[in-house]
Amino acid sequence: MTTQPYDKQVASDIIAGFNARPEMLVQVLVAFVERFGWITDAAIRQLAAELNLSRADVHGVVSYYHDFRTSPPGKHVVKICEAEACQSMGSRELSKHAQKSLGVAMHESNDDVTLEPVYCLGNCACSPAIMVDGKTFGRVSTNRFDEIVASMDETR
Ligand code: FES
Repeated sequence: MTTQPYDKQVASDIIAGFNARPEMLVQVLVAFVERFGWITDAAIRQLAAELNLSRADVHGVVSYYHDFRTSPPGKHVVKICEAEACQSMGSRELSKHAQKSLGVAMHESNDDVTLEPVYCLGNCACSPAIMVDGKTFGRVSTNRFDEIVASMDETR
């Protein structure tokens, strides 16, 4: 995952790409997270100004969706699928293992890693599935999880 520091002009260009339509706020936020990795206070102020919304409106949407991080992600982002097919194949246990093994709770980060749930990676036939830095892995046992995590720095 390649992100860049928040940049007001780049942010403005993204907003313009959605014709500065306030109803496109969620899509703009998705694009911001893809580009900058998280939603800064400056981003919230700029979105409010350029989409003609109140800061409370923007903040309300940001805080509603977990995907809109409001703090910088770790160096690696690990997502564990918790949708039905993966749950039936043990993703809850995998999530518990991941939190213990990585030392971070779901939705939290340390300098090294961010751990997040995700709801279907389109890899249901190979449940349970995870995504590490944008790459999907299937049939992930707790042992395999540890192997994947141990090789994160090599897979970037
Ligand atoms: S339910 Fe997990 S990949 Fe589809």
